[in-house]
Amino acid sequence: MKGIILHAGHGTRLRPLTHTGPKQLLPIANKPMSQYCLESIKDTGITDIAIIIGGVGSNKVKEYYEDGKKFGVKITYVEQDSPRGIAHAIRLCKDFIGNEKFLVFLGDNIIQRRISDFADEFEKSDAKAMILLCEVDNPSRFGIADVQNGIIKKIMEKPKDPPTNLAVTGIYFLTPIIFDIIDNLKPSWRNELEITDALDILLQNHKITYNVITDYWKDTGTPEDIIHANMTILDKTKPYFNGIKEKDVKINGNVMIGENTIIKSNVVINGPTIIGKNCVIESGSKIGPNTSIGDNSNLRCDIAESIVMSECNITCDIKIRNSIIAFNSELTTNQNTDDKVFLLGEGTRIIL
Ligand code: G1P
Repeated sequence: MKGIILHAGHGTRLRPLTHTGPKQLLPIANKPMSQYCLESIKDTGITDIAIIIGGVGSNKVKEYYEDGKKFGVKITYVEQDSPRGIAHAIRLCKDFIGNEKFLVFLGDNIIQRRISDFADEFEKSDAKAMILLCEVDNPSRFGIADVQNGIIKKIMEKPKDPPTNLAVTGIYFLTPIIFDIIDNLKPSWRNELEITDALDILLQNHKITYNVITDYWKDTGTPEDIIHANMTILDKTKPYFNGIKEKDVKINGNVMIGENTIIKSNVVINGPTIIGKNCVIESGSKIGPNTSIGDNSNLRCDIAESIVMSECNITCDIKIRNSIIAFNSELTTNQNTDDKVFLLGEGTRIIL
């Protein structure tokens, strides 16, 4: 089998974080979310992977993954000129796939469960596709499968009146027959070639099997989704301490501290929390729970339920909660004046 990771798109609901790069590179527990997809695919034994890029900062994807060697896989990049849908992106990989079965993973989908057993099942099966479903509270936001007595009857995209709450997750096991169907597909109301429409056509004459994921699955479309995924992934990570600790530091729960990070006196760190390499956490700070701090950041603050990316400087007296602070940002309280100074990028959100 071969693998495909979808890494294109505009990530509009995540602006301003996506003004400078694709959303799939946003970090969860200090690792780009698409790297979790790549690792899940590799875990099934697939090492030949196409990454579909396109949109703002897609060169950053190439810079990060390079030829894939350092991740133990071989990567081929495929460019999508504009966001014309998941099915359109998959069609671009026809030559790459050849006659093999393949696994498609949307780069913004986070799951915790391994999928190697599903891959084995699909490899042995004669089904033309296999999808992974997950029960959701808001089915109108997703592709939905109408399943009756264990058989998929229909697959539809974001139905107004969903027949079930079984969302079609962004993990698809497919066969090359899908390419011919996509060639005849009409764009949907949102002007995209929908994979759900292609699967529904496939269903008319062929078998599509499914499995239901009962563990964590998240399509990280919004900042709230990312903060939630961060919390969930952190919770399952093994603790380590590779930094330097001064006196009277309290560490509670699942905490990961990278090399050369200095935790000064009277700091409290509540897990689950990860702090990257070469950071300085100044005296009196309170970090966590559910917080990720990227490499080379300096903090003197009280922060929880948040993501701070690398190279940030935060010295401030307000409590920071449910926040995402991107690469190379600065947040300072000026002790001498009540005046606030803002230098904000387009689409910035501040709640004081
Ligand atoms: C896409 C698919 C949808 C699927 C979802 C999973 O939705 O169109 O069928 O349920 O991914 O992440 P979109 O993220 O484009 O709204």
